[in-house]
Amino acid sequence: MAIVDKVLPALPVPYAMTRPDRVPSPRYYDADFYAMECELLWPRVWQMACRLEEIPKPGDFVEYEILDQSIIVVRVDDSTVRAYHNACRHRGVQLVADRGSCPSGFTCPFHGWCWGLDGSNTFLYQPDLFDEGNRDPDDLMLRSCRVELWGGCAFINLDDDAPPLRECIEPFAAFHDVWKVESLRTEWWLSARLPVNWKLAMEAFMEGYHVMETHPQLMPAGIQRGSASVYRQDFGRGTSSQARMRRLAAAGTTVESKAFIDMQINSMRLLSEGMAGMTHAKDVAVAEGLRSLELPADPALASAQWLRHLYDGIAARDKALGVDSPDLHQITEEGLTSSVNFCFPHYFLLPSFSSASSYRIRPLGPEECLFDLWSLVRYPAGEEPPPPTTPVPMAPDDPRWPPIPKQDFSNLPRQQKGLHAKGFEYMRLSDKVEGMVGNYHRLIDGYLAGFSDEKLLPALQRVSGPIDDLVGDIGF
Ligand code: FES
Ligand SMILES: [Fe+2]
Repeated sequence: MAIVDKVLPALPVPYAMTRPDRVPSPRYYDADFYAMECELLWPRVWQMACRLEEIPKPGDFVEYEILDQSIIVVRVDDSTVRAYHNACRHRGVQLVADRGSCPSGFTCPFHGWCWGLDGSNTFLYQPDLFDEGNRDPDDLMLRSCRVELWGGCAFINLDDDAPPLRECIEPFAAFHDVWKVESLRTEWWLSARLPVNWKLAMEAFMEGYHVMETHPQLMPAGIQRGSASVYRQDFGRGTSSQARMRRLAAAGTTVESKAFIDMQINSMRLLSEGMAGMTHAKDVAVAEGLRSLELPADPALASAQWLRHLYDGIAARDKALGVDSPDLHQITEEGLTSSVNFCFPHYFLLPSFSSASSYRIRPLGPEECLFDLWSLVRYPAGEEPPPPTTPVPMAPDDPRWPPIPKQDFSNLPRQQKGLHAKGFEYMRLSDKVEGMVGNYHRLIDGYLAGFSDEKLLPALQRVSGPIDDLVGDIGF
């Protein structure tokens, strides 16, 4: 029986997924559904809280906010990052706001109580004014929050009993270890306040099926708008441009070297101008230096040779600069070329040659969310820019947005409104390329139903990874 025909067992969740390819629309605006997510999902999941270059020195800290919770993420030393709930143990004042540096510890702005970076209370003004029970050192320790590091980021989890980070984010983590994402640094960081449910913002990046209409400039040359079967045949999860070239070769198509190189460079340039990290101008410059190559007429051979030269050029540049970049040949051989990858519940990485983009989406209310977007590159040691600071959220139509996210954002407010339309009961997903949307919604239902970590862990690992996924069996 096809997975889409499988009626999912009823879960005690309002507006539950009953088919993996249909998403009931109230999940994007219903206040009770949102309240259940706040209570049952967010307190149990690993969340990317900050990039480590935000806190390079001991005492550097950032505040990570999720719903009504505020967490201090602080660097203690080169290898240690700690996280604390942001509340003075005296009368609850938040100890920090946004970010800063306090190598000698935190001081409460109300009555001046102090804590060291290890969370221990170091000063209490006139302790004899307090009953012994209210100045017990163990009780005055800042309340710790789980924090683990991966991929150049600190992740926090409000659940003390959650499985370790790494287990919860495979195969996403192993995939990006080969890409050496830990050596990427922030080149720029922008954010948007979007008038849409947080899940809607995420789903705009879970399939490439929207590229034809939303980003027409990114369609390969020669493919007409709306031509039948193009998307599934050429771009679904697990396919690659190499596979497309092999199909073209099998069909007897030939390429002319100069035109082929023009096309490759043009497509790199469009991505670069569309959003920097999606293909960095530094890598476009390497490609420009290869214009005089003579490539074979067979499209598969031409593509393989082109990539070999391009990868070698990028590697030679980075080696000369002393930059720790990934082995792009190995990445291609191992088939790890998916350009957009999701990490449940709210984080994306988009590695491309020597750079990457990254997204994080947080709920601000049933129909509002905060979208962070990083452009990431590698710098020679000692040439890294100063630590990035929190961007002021922009409107989705702000002219400062690069073209590609601007195109993505243009649909979202209209979609949020459309979901309220009478008679629009559910989204109808492709089971072949929009499967990730249905899969992660079903995983959310698992959290809302209160399933155990043992039951949720295989589902987490099934959901996180390359986008353009099939509808799949996540185990419940
Ligand atoms: S509330 Fe923090 S010292 Fe009093
Ligand atoms: Fe897009």
